[in-house]
Amino acid sequence: MKEKKKSIFIRGKNRAKRIIKRFFTKQDFEKLSKDFFDMKAPVYDEEELVVYSEDSCMAVIDALKDKKYKSLLDIGCGTGHLISLLSKNKKADYVGLDLSSKMVSVASKKKIKYANFVEGSADNLPFQKKSFDVVTCSESFHHYEDENKAMREAYRVLKKGGYYIVADKDVGKLVWFHNFYNRRFKNTGDCNFSNLKRAEKLMKKNGFKLVYSGKYYNNTHYIVVGRK
Ligand SMILES: C[S@@+](CC[C@H](N)C(=O)[O-])C[C@H]1O[C@@H](n2cnc3c(N)ncnc32)[C@H](O)[C@@H]1O
Repeated sequence: MKEKKKSIFIRGKNRAKRIIKRFFTKQDFEKLSKDFFDMKAPVYDEEELVVYSEDSCMAVIDALKDKKYKSLLDIGCGTGHLISLLSKNKKADYVGLDLSSKMVSVASKKKIKYANFVEGSADNLPFQKKSFDVVTCSESFHHYEDENKAMREAYRVLKKGGYYIVADKDVGKLVWFHNFYNRRFKNTGDCNFSNLKRAEKLMKKNGFKLVYSGKYYNNTHYIVVGRK
C-alpha cells in the first residue's frame, strides 16, 4: 500500500514538473503543426475533414463565386480538398502549399486536375512576387505563429487587384484565453486563434483593402476577403 502511495506521489510530481517545464519553454509551433499533420495525414480525409474544414472550404468557394482568376494558391492546403472542389468547376493553375510533407503527399496522390502541391511554410512562400490572382487559406491561419509575416507573404505573391481569402474558427472575445491554453497545453500547433474583428484588422494592417467579411457555420467561423 505504501509503495502504491509512493508511486502515485512520484507520478504526480513528474506530471507537475512536465507542466511547469511546458509553461516556461518556448514552443516551436511550426514543428508541432508539422508533426501533428504528418501523423494525421493518412486519416485526415476520413476523420478530420468533415468536422474541421468542409464548411470552411464551402465558404471560400462561395466567396470566389463571382471572381475571375487564372491562378490560385491555397496555403495550408492539407490533403487538397479545396483545390479538388474548385478544379472540378474551373480551369486554372492551382497550387497547394503545406508544411506537412505527408499532407502534401496525400494531396499529390489524388492527381487533381490542373493542380500542383508543394511543401513549404506560410511565412516564407517559395514563389516570386505577383504570381497569383487569388490566395486562399482555409482552417490553417490559426497555426501561424507570425500572422503578420504570413499576411505580408500572401500580399507579396498576389498580383495587383488579387484576392486573399482567410476562413477560420472564430473564438469570440476570449482570443487571449484560447491562445494561452492552446499554446501551453496542446500539441497540435494551434497558436493564434482569432475572431472576425481581429482578422479584419490584420488584413487592413497588412495592406489589404477589406472587400468582404462575415461569419458562417452558426457564427463559429469567420471569413475575410482582402484585395491587393
Ligand atoms: C486543419 S488543416 C486544414 C487543411 C485544409 N486547408 C482543409 O481545409 O482541409 C491545417 C493545415 O495547415 C497546415 N499548416 C500549419 N501550419 C502551416 C504553415 N506555417 N505553413 C503552411 N501550412 C501550415 C497543416 O500542415 C495542415 O495541413
